[in-house]
Amino acid sequence: MAVDSLSEVSHRILDWYDANARVLPWRNPPGKPLPLDDPNWPYRVWLSEVMLQQTTVAAVKAYFAAFIQRWPSVRDLAAASDADVMAAWAGLGYYARARNMLACARAVAESGFPQNEDALRALPGIGDYTAAAIAAFAFGQHAIVVDGNIERVIARLCAVQEPMPAAKPRLKQLAATLTPPAHAGDYAQGLMDLGATLCTPRSPACAICPINHLCAGRTDAERFPVKLPKKARPDRTGTAWWVERDGHILLVRRPDKGLLGGMLALPSCDWKGGGATAPVRANWQRAGDISHVFTHFSLTLEILSGQAETGCTLPPGGEWWPKDRIAEAGLPTLFAKAATLVLSMQEESL
Ligand code: ADE
Repeated sequence: MAVDSLSEVSHRILDWYDANARVLPWRNPPGKPLPLDDPNWPYRVWLSEVMLQQTTVAAVKAYFAAFIQRWPSVRDLAAASDADVMAAWAGLGYYARARNMLACARAVAESGFPQNEDALRALPGIGDYTAAAIAAFAFGQHAIVVDGNIERVIARLCAVQEPMPAAKPRLKQLAATLTPPAHAGDYAQGLMDLGATLCTPRSPACAICPINHLCAGRTDAERFPVKLPKKARPDRTGTAWWVERDGHILLVRRPDKGLLGGMLALPSCDWKGGGATAPVRANWQRAGDISHVFTHFSLTLEILSGQAETGCTLPPGGEWWPKDRIAEAGLPTLFAKAATLVLSMQEESL
C-alpha cells in the first residue's frame, strides 16, 4: 500500500471513530485527553482488557461494573481474598485469567502500573496484546495493538493470503505500518469498533465502510482472514454429584492448575469417561445430563443427586455450602447449569 494510502487509512479510521465510537465504561471518549491525573484510570483499562481477553464486550459490561463497584482501586482488589475474587469472576470463563489478574493486582498495588510495554509484559496475565493495549489506552503511548477484530480488518484490507495463525506476524507488521504516529489508542479502538460493527466475520457491511475504496479484500471479504479447516472438537463425558446433607451441598475447590482451576465445583470424575467413584455414600438418583463447550472439547456430565448421611465424612478439599445460598458460591457455568437442573427438578417434584 502506498504511503499516502497508509495515512488515508488512519485518518479515515480516526474520523469514523470520532463519529461512531461505542460508548464503553472503560473507555476515554475519542479525541478527549486521557484522564492521566485519575490514579484509577490505568486500573480500569487493565481490568477491562483482562476481562475482554476471550470474552465479548456484551458479557464483560456487567462484570466490569460489579468489580469496579466492589473494588474501586487496584489496592482494593489486591487486598481481596482469592475466594471472593474467583466467585465474582464465576461465569466469565478462562479462570486462569482471574488468578493471574489477582497476582498482577498484588504486584502493582504499591507502586502502580508501569507505563512501559516491556515492564507491563513482565506482569502476570499480561501478554503482547494487553501490554500494548494498556500502553496505548491508559498512557497514550505509541503501541501496536492487535486483537482478533484488528487482525480481521487488516487481513481484509491487505488481502493477506497466508492462513491463520501463521499469518499473525505478517498482520502485526502490517498493523505497525498502518498505526499513525499520534492517537494510536483511538486508532486501535476505532479498528476494533469497525471490526465489531461493520467488518464483522460474516456479512460485513462493506458498502458503508469508511475504507472500502482502499480494501484489497473487498470483493470476497468473508474469505479473510484465511483459515485452515477446523479440527473437530472431541466429545467427553463424565459424572458429577449433587450431594445434600442437612440443607447443605457438598462443594470442592478445584486444584489451582488445570481447567476451572481454583474454582468451587461439584465433585466430579476426571471427565475422561472412565469409571467414577462417588465422593460419599448416598441414595443416588439420576437428575439428567448437562453439556458445556470448552475451547478444546465438549463435555456432557451426568448429574446424580442424593442425600448423604448426617455423620458422613467430608472428602478432602470439600466443604458444605448452604443450599439456599448456592447462587453466591460463584460456581463456574458448567456447575451452575447442574445446580439449575437439580433445583428445577426438585421444584417440579414438590
Ligand atoms: N476488546 C478489547 N479491548 C477493547 C476495547 N478497549 N474496546 C472494545 N473492545 C475491546
